[in-house]
Amino acid sequence: MNAPIGVFDSGVGGLSVLREIRQLLPHANLLYVADSGHVPYGEKPPEVIRERSLRIAEFLIGQGARALVLACNTATAAAVNELRGTFDMPIVGMEPAVKPAAAATRNGKVGVLATTGTLQSAKFAALLDRFARDVEVLTQPCPGLVECVEQGDLQGPQVRVLLQRYLQPLLQAECDTLILGCTHYPFLKPVLRELLPADIQLVDTGEAVARQLQARLGENAQLPLGGNGVVRFWSSGDTQQMARVLPVLWGSEGEVESLPV
Ligand code: DGL
Repeated sequence: MNAPIGVFDSGVGGLSVLREIRQLLPHANLLYVADSGHVPYGEKPPEVIRERSLRIAEFLIGQGARALVLACNTATAAAVNELRGTFDMPIVGMEPAVKPAAAATRNGKVGVLATTGTLQSAKFAALLDRFARDVEVLTQPCPGLVECVEQGDLQGPQVRVLLQRYLQPLLQAECDTLILGCTHYPFLKPVLRELLPADIQLVDTGEAVARQLQARLGENAQLPLGGNGVVRFWSSGDTQQMARVLPVLWGSEGEVESLPV
């Protein structure tokens, strides 16, 4: 059985999750939607994100998807419950890695870099309540970073200025573990490693999400078998711009189709 898996994000950030899925499930056919015409989600009201998520999910299902991955923390916080209530299929979302970070911190101080939408969500509050009772958590919204990654700017002067501004309070508070709570941020790991002291740990959930997807497909007897999976890309924004950044963010060239919703 090789029904495609639909994956989406507000833009190209979810490619950091798609590459983990590809590595774990190389036989899977993957459909990826970047909603770059509406990026960033992080500063938009949850109703708008829910509406976009529903339209994109319908599109992916129309293309044959039999499982969905919300490769976006902000969309998960705003829309995963709605999607699960609407579509009867495995739907995997993602959330900041609070549980692993709480287990990994040595001094009990954890910083979270994420979008404003994620940090203000009820889901995030519930996550802290559940897993971070014994640690101190500092949150840092990071407007502007997503736009840099969308442009394929992973270590230019603008990224560095923004990161220095956002990291400063977390370093001052002596956080020893930082959560990358937005799927665009793992692409900034090389520059983060340059800017941060070597003993600070970075945690994200891309790999865990891929494993969870594998488990859900297994339960549904949907694990792809044999053959090389095909990957297709759509963007609601500038398709040529996405095609330009694919080699940097995805590791190879690809055709990008225009998203009709
Ligand atoms: N990549 C998304 C996330 O994981 C959202 C970025 C944005 O559009 O603000 O939260």
